[in-house]
Parts: sequence; structure tokens; C-alpha cells
Amino acid sequence: MKIKSAEFVVSNSDVAKCPKNHLPEYAFIGRSNVGKSSLINMLTDRKSLAKTSGKPGKTQLINHFVINNNWYLVDLPGYGYARVSKTSKKKFQKFITNYFEQRQQLVSAFVLVDIRHEPQTIDLEFMQYLGENAIPFGIIFTKADKLKQKAIERHVDDYCQELLKTWEELPPHFITSSSKKIGQNEVLGFIEATNEEIEALKNE
Ligand code: GTP
Ligand code: MG
Repeated sequence: MKIKSAEFVVSNSDVAKCPKNHLPEYAFIGRSNVGKSSLINMLTDRKSLAKTSGKPGKTQLINHFVINNNWYLVDLPGYGYARVSKTSKKKFQKFITNYFEQRQQLVSAFVLVDIRHEPQTIDLEFMQYLGENAIPFGIIFTKADKLKQKAIERHVDDYCQELLKTWEELPPHFITSSSKKIGQNEVLGFIEATNEEIEALKNE
């Protein structure tokens, strides 16, 4: 897919204030610092469309970006960031769960996981939560530049084996690196194909 335009639309902590139109949207979620905002910049070929930081906890709100005036990418805060207070963690959990449970336009979530790490309980639990709420999701492995090809294959394989202990089918999954621009075509191709399916269903 060619990215002709990518623009920031709105940030907020209330799902009711998200854009009202019915363009399909795709949301990035995962631990703080996993690379959600960097991935948005990589996918859209923009250096600083989404704000990134070496310190976890940078993204604090629901951020909508409209792509090609036709679909949204949504950058969300990370979970599992220990330094925020308990009250703000609770508030955060509430608005994120409201987003996932109420946002009709959400076509698919992408759970980002750092390819270097073993499967983490917090990520597996979040996938479980998405499953229980019938929210489709894919997995995006990030920071593939940090491992050699063989290790990438081994880590992805191990991850899939872990998932198959609880899931009957593997979700779509993608290997990416924002710094080396790996996986851009695969993720965008998946989104494009999904958007086309939605269009075809509308015309039926
Ligand atoms: P929060 O907004 O805090 O939840 O974090 P985030 O998931 O949006 O992470 P962000 O994109 O801000 O990136 C966190 C750090 O990881 C930054 O220092 C990025 O430069 C680095 N990073 C992100 N993606 C990659 C990648 O593909 N490779 C490498 N080597 N570093 C990356
Ligand atoms: Mg971020």
C-alpha cells in the first residue's frame, strides 16, 4: 500500500470523543517501550508523526492518525509500566478497556511484543482478554534488528508454541524492526487486504 497521507487527528482519554466517522481502524497495544509509536512512524514513513521516547510511559492517550483519508492507525499507551501511580494505572486501564470494548470502528488490534523476550504473562493475558471480548488481533514482533535471523526464527517459533497451548489457531503475526524498516509491506499489506474485505462486504 502506498501511503499518500498520514495526519494526526485527535488525542483523548475518552472513547466517546474519538472520531465519529466510520473509517476502519487498527490499534497498537503492548508493553510500554515495546515500540508502538515508532512502528506507526515506520509504517507511514514519517519521522515523528507519533511521539516516541527511550523512556517508557511516553504515550498517555488514545491517538488517532488518519491514513490516506481512508483508515485510522491508533497509538495507545503501554501497559505494564511500573512507575505510574496506582490511581493513574486504574484510570488508564479503564479508558483503554472502554476503548476496546466500545469502539465499533476497531477492525483489529495489534499486540506488540519485543522479539527478544520470552512470552510474558501480561501480554498473554491481554490476548486472552481480547479473545474473550471477540476482538480480532494480530501479533507484531518488534525490534527484530536486535537479533540474528536464526534467533528470530527460534523466538517466533517458541512464541507460537506457547500460544498453541491455549489457542486453537495462531493469530496473524509479523516480524518488524522500525529502525531497519523490516515488515512494513507485510503489515500494510494485511491492513490493505482487510480494508478491501470490508469494502467488499459493504457492497454485497
Ligand atoms: P510508550 O508510548 O511508552 O508505551 O512506548 P512505545 O511502545 O510507543 O515505544 P516507542 O516507540 O516510544 O519506542 C521506545 C524505544 O524503543 C525508543 O527508544 C525507540 O527508539 C526504541 N525502538 C522502537 N522500535 C525499535 C526497533 O525496531 N528497533 C530498535 N533497536 N529500537 C526500537
Ligand atoms: Mg508510545
